[in-house]
Amino acid sequence: MRFFLDTANVEHIKHGVRLGVISGVTTNPSLVSKEGEVNYQELVKEICSIVPGPVSAEVLSTEAEGMILEARRIAMWAENVVVKIPATLEGIEATSVLSKENIKVNLTLCFSFNQAMLGAAAGATFISPFVGRLDDVGEDGMQVVAEVVDYLEHYQLPSQVIASSIRHTQHCLLAARAGAHVATVPYKVLLQMINHPLTDIGVKRFLDDWRGIFGNTTVVSR
Ligand code: E4P
Repeated sequence: MRFFLDTANVEHIKHGVRLGVISGVTTNPSLVSKEGEVNYQELVKEICSIVPGPVSAEVLSTEAEGMILEARRIAMWAENVVVKIPATLEGIEATSVLSKENIKVNLTLCFSFNQAMLGAAAGATFISPFVGRLDDVGEDGMQVVAEVVDYLEHYQLPSQVIASSIRHTQHCLLAARAGAHVATVPYKVLLQMINHPLTDIGVKRFLDDWRGIFGNTTVVSR
């Protein structure tokens, strides 16, 4: 499973890329709003220049025609940009047109297997089931991920599933077990993934034992 960062914060994205584990980014209008009154196009272009993979930028139109016009513009901003289109009827129509023009679409706000099947049929490159938001309303978000992954595999369809709306590290494990191609994780969750108290205790103990005998903490002679 690959990891994308679910943020529009440039510093967080730079850190994720530096770690070498982030191969894409997903933004949405709420995440961009958190960065203040930025120039959307400039911000997306900057993120695209930092990230070695797909960067999703969302349209704001709610009608197919407007979505298509916005998507064509967004697609010109960078080679690695992917246009996020909501899983509505208008969104499916726009996805069908855009995929025929080889514009990559991330079908966002996907909450059901049915929506995902239509997204795949329309040619979406990525399909994003929103796991956390489904869990919030008492549904099993990861079940949708697993069903869509199986479906795509069974029919050998090229769309990839991005487990989205990830809220905690347990979601990352479950997304991998469900076979998601990608998990898009908030920066906070990325940092939490590496944490384990036994690792910290272990590092301290190794250093203490070494220092007790050698009196320093270097293995490289200067
Ligand atoms: C995915 O592409 C979305 O940006 C994101 O995962 C939404 O997550 P939220 O439910 O935490 O807003």
